[in-house]
Amino acid sequence: MGGADPLSEAALPLAREQARRIASAFLPPQRFGNRRDYYYSRGKLGSDPLYPGVLAALNDAPVVPLLDIGCGLGLLAHVLRQQGSTLAYHGVDIDAGKVARAEQASSRAALPQATFTCVDASAALPAHHGNVALLDVLQYLPAPAQTQLLLDAAARVAPGARLVIRTTLADHSGRDRTTRITDMLAHLVGWMGTRPRHYPDAESLRTPLEAAGLHLRVTPLYGNTPFNNWLIVGDRPLAA
Ligand SMILES: C[S@@+](CC[C@H](N)C(=O)[O-])C[C@H]1O[C@@H](n2cnc3c(N)ncnc32)[C@H](O)[C@@H]1O
Repeated sequence: MGGADPLSEAALPLAREQARRIASAFLPPQRFGNRRDYYYSRGKLGSDPLYPGVLAALNDAPVVPLLDIGCGLGLLAHVLRQQGSTLAYHGVDIDAGKVARAEQASSRAALPQATFTCVDASAALPAHHGNVALLDVLQYLPAPAQTQLLLDAAARVAPGARLVIRTTLADHSGRDRTTRITDMLAHLVGWMGTRPRHYPDAESLRTPLEAAGLHLRVTPLYGNTPFNNWLIVGDRPLAA
């Protein structure tokens, strides 16, 4: 896996104004309400190349529904709509509070065809046949559950459609160490309800995904951040 890829050219975050517009859907209804989601979204969208990278990866994917596993606040749905994507979007996350806030912000921004469900992805994924996203989620599952989730996600990729994963990879680099420390801090300050369980390496992703019939491309997606983030794009070929 690996090699130069045009996807790495998308390794820039959203422009400030685009980030601010999306984040405004997360402002509290009252003037002095809690602005945590607003500042988080604004900072995340304005600093992390994740969403433009995923958009670039989905750019020439077929226009079939997208299942976003571990969707968090559903920021991907906002970015998709802001950039004119019409893919029907279904976000699932284990954190009921985040799902409720994702639904609120989606209604507030009047996002068309965006739905959210509270689901433990390590127990059961909803039925789906289309594109799939799995962004910054794997490390919160133990190793055997990661393999099962990769197989379950791949099984939901329609012929011609695409699985887009962003994950950190365990490779003992300085970026790897920075990522682990930051994930642990996010858990300790209460942003992530679950603590990281296991950091996958490239081989533990490649083996199940290729066995499930996907053709893989792997590209760094850390941009100007200090983290060890990679984009893994799996295409399911059309049946011969
Ligand atoms: C770092 S956040 C990423 C959120 C979103 N994918 C994004 O990139 O903006 C990881 C998300 O995975 C969710 N998560 C962790 N374990 C999960 C599970 N077993 N099933 C579903 N979601 C899970 C967390 O609740 C959290 O919202």
